Parts: sequence; C-alpha cells; structure tokens
Amino acid sequence: MRINWAEFYREIRECERCALYRGRLNVVPGEGNPRARLMLIGEGPGQQEDRMGRPFVGPSGELLTKMLHAIGLERSEVYICNIVKCRPPKNRNPEPEEAQACLPFLRMQVALVRPKIIVLLGKVACRWTLGEEISITRGHGVWHERKGVWFLPTFHPSALLRDPAKKADAWEDFQKLREKMRELEGEP
Ligand code: URA
Repeated sequence: MRINWAEFYREIRECERCALYRGRLNVVPGEGNPRARLMLIGEGPGQQEDRMGRPFVGPSGELLTKMLHAIGLERSEVYICNIVKCRPPKNRNPEPEEAQACLPFLRMQVALVRPKIIVLLGKVACRWTLGEEISITRGHGVWHERKGVWFLPTFHPSALLRDPAKKADAWEDFQKLREKMRELEGEP
C-alpha cells in the first residue's frame, strides 16, 4: 500500500501499539515542512509537548529553535519529530518495545518527507535510527551516510540546558550542518 499523510495521521491518532497511549493527552506526530531537506529527530514528547500535541515546544524546544535560527533556519522550513510519539511517564527514556512499536511511524515520515539530512538529537535518536549505541560526547558531529541520507548525531537540547558547557560543541555541529546543507544545495 502506498502511504500518504492522511493515512499516517489516521493511523497515529488511533495508535494503541504500545502502553504509552494510556498516559497521553495528545499524540505528538511531528511538524514542519512535509518536503523539508532537513529532519530533526528527538526522543519523545515531554509534558508541554503532550499538552499541545506538538514536538519541542517546551524549554528544550526554545533552545532548538534558537539553534536553528543561528544557522538561518526557521522551524517551518524543517521537519521535527521524535522516536516515540506519546509521552513516556516522568520523561523517562522510551523502552525498547515502545521505540520498536513506534518506528514504523518514523519510517513513514522519512519516506514521505525524503530529507537529505537527519539530525539526531541525543543517544536515543541514534540508537533507533543508526542502530548503534553512540556516545554523544565522542560521536557528536560525525556524519553517517545511509542510502544517500546524511545523519548527524548531536546533543539533545535538554542535555545542553543541563550542561551549558556542551553548547560550544553543539554550535560546531550546527556549523557542520550548515556547511553540509550548502554542499547539497541544488541536488535533487
Ligand atoms: N524532548 C524531546 O526529545 N522531544 C520533544 O518533543 C520535546 C522534548
């Protein structure tokens, strides 16, 4: 079956594939430009995201928005989503069965948006997309190419809020991101 956005939203709004649906106020599917060249993937919705049904609208979202602005991007130009689309209780990391149950939705999003570049915000996003346990301290800013798509692991904005000393490294990652976007400009 060919997927489309209507089907995606219909399925995700009714989703009961893992236990997280029981605690949600809203599903947080993702948002942004459905044809974005850049996709950013976080971990899972927090309290404010759950209330609003939108990704990265709390404090870490504010920081993410600022970081995008710093490289000349508006949120509306990119596509932002998470590994899991329902809030894990007390903002814990998603359990493997929750991430696995939700991955088909992320695959649909990647297939529909067809981004050239995917920024992985933190370890959880790396684990479930690249299939690797990556230490962000060591592996941030290192490009991974898979089937013509460029993946860039970097710090989760919440980690930057907890430890502002990491912001300089994250800034360098975003400079690399800007360079790669320029390099790929004009490619179909
Ligand atoms: N943290 C995430 O990983 N995703 C959000 O949407 C908000 C906070």
